[in-house]
Amino acid sequence: MKQLEERILQDGHVLGENILKVDSFLTHQVDFQLMKEIGQTFAEYFQSAGITKVVTIEASGIAPAIYTAEALNVPMIFAKKAKNITMLDGILTAEVYSFTKQVTSTVSIASKFLNNRDRVLIVDDFLANGQAAKGLVDIIQQAGAEVEGIGIVIEKSFQDGRTLLEKAGQKVVSLARIEHFENGKVVFKEADL
Ligand code: G4P
Repeated sequence: MKQLEERILQDGHVLGENILKVDSFLTHQVDFQLMKEIGQTFAEYFQSAGITKVVTIEASGIAPAIYTAEALNVPMIFAKKAKNITMLDGILTAEVYSFTKQVTSTVSIASKFLNNRDRVLIVDDFLANGQAAKGLVDIIQQAGAEVEGIGIVIEKSFQDGRTLLEKAGQKVVSLARIEHFENGKVVFKEADL
C-alpha cells in the first residue's frame, strides 16, 4: 500500500535495532483517513471470503480493525489483555508471550461473540514475532470458527511472525513489509497489497 509506505517514511522513527515508532498516525494518535483506506484495502481483498467478524487485540489493533469491519459491514471484536470483572464466565483465552516485553499475558474474548459459523479476519497493527496473532487464532479455533486470513498493517519481515503463522496454515496479508532498517531508515520489501 503505497500511501502507507510513504507515511512510514515521512513520519515513522526507527528506534534502536528493530523498533519502528509510528505513534503520530497509528499507535497513539490515529489518522482516521489513513485507517479508512487501510480498512477498505483489507475489505476489498477479503470481499469474497464471506467474513462475518473482524478480530483484533487491544489497543493499537483497534483502529485499523474497526475501519475494516465497517468496510465489510460486520462486527469487530477486540481481545482483552486485562481481566475484567464483568467477564465472569464463558471466556475463551490464550497465553501470549511478548518477546518485546518479555512477559506472558492472558488474552480473552467472551465466547458469546464467536461461534462455529463465523469466518474471521484477524487484523493487527504490527506483526513481529507473531505471538499475538497466534493467540487470536487459538481463541478463534476454540470457538470452532474459521480464520480466513490475517491482515497486518506493518510487518517486520526480518522477525519470525509471518513464517510462524504460515507454517500453521494461515494466510498473511501485509500492507507494508519492512525488510530491514539501515542507518535509521526503513527499507521495504514488496507488500502484499
Ligand atoms: P508479536 O505479537 O508479533 O509477537 O510481537 P511482540 O511480542 O514482539 O510485540 C509486542 C507488542 O509490541 C505488540 O503490541 C506489538 O504490536 C508491538 N510491536 C512490535 N514491534 C513493534 C514496532 O516495531 N513498533 C511498534 N510501535 N510496536 C511494535 P502490544 O504490546 O500489544 O501493544 P499495544 O497494541 O497495546 O500498543
